[in-house]
Amino acid sequence: MMRTHGCGEISPKLLKKTIQVCGWVHRRRDHGGVSFFDVRDRSGILQTVFSPESKLPFDELRPEFVVQMSGQVRERPKGTKNPKLKTGAVELDVKELTILNRSETPPFEISKESDVTDEMRLQYRYLDLRRPGMQEKLSLRHQLIQACRSFLNKQDFLEVDTPILTRSTPEGARDYLVPSRLNPGQFYALPQSPQLFKQLLMVAGLERYYQVAKCFRDEDLRSDRQPEFTQLDMELSFVEEEDVFAVTEDLMVDLFKQVLGLKVKKPFPKISYQEAMDRYGTDKPDLRNPMTLVNVSDCFAKTEFKRFEEILSSGGIIKALKVPGGGSLGRAQIDKIRDLSIQAGAKGVVDVRVTAKGPDSPVLKFVGAEALGQVVGAVKATEKDLVLLVADQPAVVNAALDLLRRSLGEQLKLVKKEAWQFVWVKDFPLFVYDEETKRWASEHHPFTSPVQEDIVHLKDNQAKVRARAYDLVVNGVELGSGSIRIHQTDLQENIFQVLGMSTQEAKARFGFLLEALRFGAPPHAGIAFGLDRLAALMCGSATIRDVIPFPKTQKAVCLMTGAPSGVDARQLKELNLSIQGGKQNA
Ligand code: AMO
Repeated sequence: MMRTHGCGEISPKLLKKTIQVCGWVHRRRDHGGVSFFDVRDRSGILQTVFSPESKLPFDELRPEFVVQMSGQVRERPKGTKNPKLKTGAVELDVKELTILNRSETPPFEISKESDVTDEMRLQYRYLDLRRPGMQEKLSLRHQLIQACRSFLNKQDFLEVDTPILTRSTPEGARDYLVPSRLNPGQFYALPQSPQLFKQLLMVAGLERYYQVAKCFRDEDLRSDRQPEFTQLDMELSFVEEEDVFAVTEDLMVDLFKQVLGLKVKKPFPKISYQEAMDRYGTDKPDLRNPMTLVNVSDCFAKTEFKRFEEILSSGGIIKALKVPGGGSLGRAQIDKIRDLSIQAGAKGVVDVRVTAKGPDSPVLKFVGAEALGQVVGAVKATEKDLVLLVADQPAVVNAALDLLRRSLGEQLKLVKKEAWQFVWVKDFPLFVYDEETKRWASEHHPFTSPVQEDIVHLKDNQAKVRARAYDLVVNGVELGSGSIRIHQTDLQENIFQVLGMSTQEAKARFGFLLEALRFGAPPHAGIAFGLDRLAALMCGSATIRDVIPFPKTQKAVCLMTGAPSGVDARQLKELNLSIQGGKQNA
């Protein structure tokens, strides 16, 4: 055995015992002729001590050298104990030292959590991951995944894996394609999700499925999106919405208890998509934030203010956001708010204040005190508050006020950071109109069931058709998404038609699904959660990159391995491919 204990396991219980540890040199300190080396392994950090008389080669040690040390555990002298460290009451009086490996000077200090660029961290990810903070994050991710498995196993779910080399599954992003050598000119697509396979597992009679599934999407990346990410994917037969809500809520309550030791209250509130858009301007509202949007278009129904009049007569709306305590914000801060609204696509924002003499605003002389008074009444503002108005097409108004609501909620500390506020968002529209292609597209994916009574509108009023889909949102983050699926071939074919797919095209792309639905497919439903997002939230990380061991940059590049890279001519030839204009070799 190379070691008897982990560094972090050494406690006063082992006083006077001879032990052996292995690890990395974390930090050196010299004090009164004595040399102290903190030695680190995954379990923690231990202070080791070399006296000036020691003949051991400790002077050779540099940060990140790999060492084996044995000696006696002793109590640290009074006044030198470190209560912040698990092992802070003891130290190792080293009698033997073996240098197991040497290290070049690392490009950044492992013992400091800051002072490094993201690029450097990603390029030397194996060093970044040596940092105790990063190891804690991976450890939490591990606990989270184990807790998911343990809960679902107890609930009679089967863990089944599904192919990575497959056909395209439409989830709204571009596919990553893999050329087939044995079938020249043909490609596999990496799964955007296991959606179709999990539905086929229901047709196969598996009834309750889950998988910790890798998904691949070629889309614009953000702090909560990676090209390759992990879902906790689930599907159940013979269920309706309430069954999925119940199992999900029990799962979340269990995960928060197991991983964070926290009590989450269920049932989670439910709101409709429409209500979410009306009140919060987004379909993933952070309900910890008390501010809500109010449609005040009616207050300006008779306005002669040209800007507002034009907007209202061309299908636009005017919404107000009351900022509690915002009355004290000065001109410079209002300018910042305007810049933010412009970032979100609005042309600006109108501020309204409540004074003893009535409402005051830069637009007072154009819209009059009466209309502004109605606005103030509608949002119940007082002299302490500030009211912000945005007028534009609904999508722009919502985007701008959503951004302002989030940003001011943080700035004015209106959001209780430590709270966990779950909410189900349901009754989404089944379709969205894609202005670019002039076609209807699925809001979720094409296998989502419409609400029964809306099926009559599939032909002539597609915008009115509601989906039996639901999202789980926590603290303003979309954590999961799912739906009741279509289990009848006719209805599925019908939906493909609305999406502008010809019968031949539907057959070519999804013939296997349409066929399977003909062989006694049970009613089924499911949901998938972003495990990276959940782990990041639980760690308090602002980005999912922190909880993914080897993530990619915003340009989908792995800075450590250099992927993606060119390939050599022979490989391309075998695949029957040639590159036009691009570089071929790595
Ligand atoms: P959806 O596409 O909404 O649904 O994905 C489910 C959840 O996966 C997470 N997620 C991501 N996480 C990191 N990076 C990404 N690029 C990324 N994209 C999505 C989100 C999201 O809520 N098959 C359906 C689920 C179903 O209907 O059962 C699906 O994949 O947390």
